[in-house]
Amino acid sequence: MTGVNENDREIYMHGHHPVVVDEHARRSAKRNAAYLLPHLKPGMSLLDIGCGPGSITAGLANATGPGRAVGVDTSETALERARADAADAGIKNLEYQIADAYDLPFSDGSFEVAHMHQVLQHLSDPERALQEAVRVLAPGGVIGITEVDWGTAIFWPRTSATDRFLQIYGEVAIRNGGDPDMGRRLRSMLEPLGLERMEIGALAWSFGDAETTAQWGDLWWSRIQESNIATVAVETGISTSEELAEIGANLHEWGQAPDAFFSMTHGEALGWK
Ligand SMILES: C[S@@+](CC[C@H](N)C(=O)[O-])C[C@H]1O[C@@H](n2cnc3c(N)ncnc32)[C@H](O)[C@@H]1O
Repeated sequence: MTGVNENDREIYMHGHHPVVVDEHARRSAKRNAAYLLPHLKPGMSLLDIGCGPGSITAGLANATGPGRAVGVDTSETALERARADAADAGIKNLEYQIADAYDLPFSDGSFEVAHMHQVLQHLSDPERALQEAVRVLAPGGVIGITEVDWGTAIFWPRTSATDRFLQIYGEVAIRNGGDPDMGRRLRSMLEPLGLERMEIGALAWSFGDAETTAQWGDLWWSRIQESNIATVAVETGISTSEELAEIGANLHEWGQAPDAFFSMTHGEALGWK
């Protein structure tokens, strides 16, 4: 995990364990940025801030090619994966570089599109990162932001393990300086920035069949024990490794239940400068 954040409480809570990077790399522009795609045109310049392993960035770059597309992140581990996948896919208009969302190495008005997917929730000063994103946006340009809202997460069957999982997740996120309920704040965060126009909406992720509930349960079975969340939860006394192992096993069992259902809302915002 690398970071260039000024606030030493601000830790990217998931870290870049392979189980995390692999899950992020399964995302796509079609699924995770469908609200932004209709506003993209060939030739537009695009910046994806906190791009991670770049699977969404690649889809956006395909929509704006041959325009210049840049993905930035503070993690070299994530960018290595992004560069390798872009090379494999033969995407020529996309480059990746290390950069901090608080201090982007671009002059004012450099990009016609700015994108952030699941980044603001991890930052202790999301307002400053947003101002910085809008600074590098050209007049008339569009910014698209998606953030999860864990406060809307629903597990059925609901058990003491699913409740405790949500509680631990939320406490670790806050301990790391972030806000796990960022999805509901996008309108209020964009409102002071003086944009010409905004469109605010939401997207629900839902899992309600044997394949997707098993995947979601097993994903968190691993992540609650192996990712940075586990380290922080144990080091700060929020949980113990024994409790995390028990919750993980329960999440695996939840994913196998024939009536399992999960949903969670994500805020989506578009703003034009
Ligand atoms: C949840 S991941 C999202 C990655 C990608 N946008 C996606 O949805 O697949 C959050 C990413 O933000 C990056 N990040 C955290 N703090 C950052 C900062 N200050 N500047 C740039 N990137 C940052 C992390 O390294 C991580 O790759």
